[in-house]
Amino acid sequence: MFLKFSVDSALLRELGEKLVETVHIALIELVKNCYDADATEVEISFSTDNNGRTTIRIVDNGTGMSFAAIQNYWMRIATTNKEDRDVSSVFGRPLTGAKGIGRFSCRRLGEKLMLITNGTKAGKLIGEQKNIEQTEVEFPWTEFEPGSDVTTIKCKGNQVILASGTTGTTLEITEIAEEWTTRGLNWLKRQLAVLAANKGTLRPGFIEDPGFNVRLTAPDFEGGVRDIREDLMNAGWGTLTAYINNKHQAVCELHALGLGRRTITSKIAYPALNDISLRLAIMVDERQYMRDTSVLSLGTLQKILPEWGGGSSQISII
Ligand SMILES: Nc1ncnc2c1ncn2[C@@H]1O[C@H](COP(=O)(O)OP(=O)(O)OP(=O)(O)O)[C@@H](O)[C@H]1O
Ligand SMILES: [Mg+2]
Repeated sequence: MFLKFSVDSALLRELGEKLVETVHIALIELVKNCYDADATEVEISFSTDNNGRTTIRIVDNGTGMSFAAIQNYWMRIATTNKEDRDVSSVFGRPLTGAKGIGRFSCRRLGEKLMLITNGTKAGKLIGEQKNIEQTEVEFPWTEFEPGSDVTTIKCKGNQVILASGTTGTTLEITEIAEEWTTRGLNWLKRQLAVLAANKGTLRPGFIEDPGFNVRLTAPDFEGGVRDIREDLMNAGWGTLTAYINNKHQAVCELHALGLGRRTITSKIAYPALNDISLRLAIMVDERQYMRDTSVLSLGTLQKILPEWGGGSSQISII
């Protein structure tokens, strides 16, 4: 005689609602997945219709998922596909996830999820591609009632093959949990800034990573549309910009806490230099030297600097 385990739907509630303490942590989990899928852009938007119903949309331009990837990874609880490798397939980014449960946190955000994903069979391609597998699946979380077996709940899906299209994944979450606060949103911004600190890099053996841009549109909250990288660049002690002007002189502009804006223009001209510029964010790891603590904190700065910073122990440049 042999005995087999079955899985009660209550497990999804445990994973989605109990493991993730707040809606903000839940949202970060989903954005980490976009990072791991080699997205270069992710847009998070909150929109409310005339009837007061809010939708959260997370749109990324990463690898997306093929139909097989949905079945093997997305529809499989505790999938270990990221455990076999430490880095992402296109840019070689250090992966942020491994446990195969993060996506269930979207259940914390709202009662319904619509997944729309465009992926290639090979899975390791991004951007405009031929033969895109486009899959849509709807997850009615409330139907996963305790007492039922997870494997018996049907999620309505649809699949088409597009002659060509752009890879990426969109998550649309509706019937939203009303737990969003300005304080929580600022926490979210700081966590997103850790991911958006990736301004691009080349890792040996991989395609050059153009960086990870995060846009957050939350009209009801302070700030409206935010470009998280831009906010991060302006959050530290100062920002230094240098470029060559139309007289071929080097111009250096410092915008810093307590100093305002200072500009130095070189007396010498550099006729051979054209179309060249740089922009640095100068970060000091003391709270009093931060211009915007809604985007930057000591804790997040310490996460950003080892990978993206350079400079001395107290003053860093990203
Ligand atoms: N935005 C996305 N784009 C492409 N694939 C995705 C995306 N989100 C999730 N996936 C796929 O679904 C799988 C499950 O995601 P999930 O977040 O649950 O687990 P994980 O990222 O592997 O580990 P962790 O639980 O530590 O986050 C991923 O391994 C990945 O294959
Ligand atoms: Mg994950």
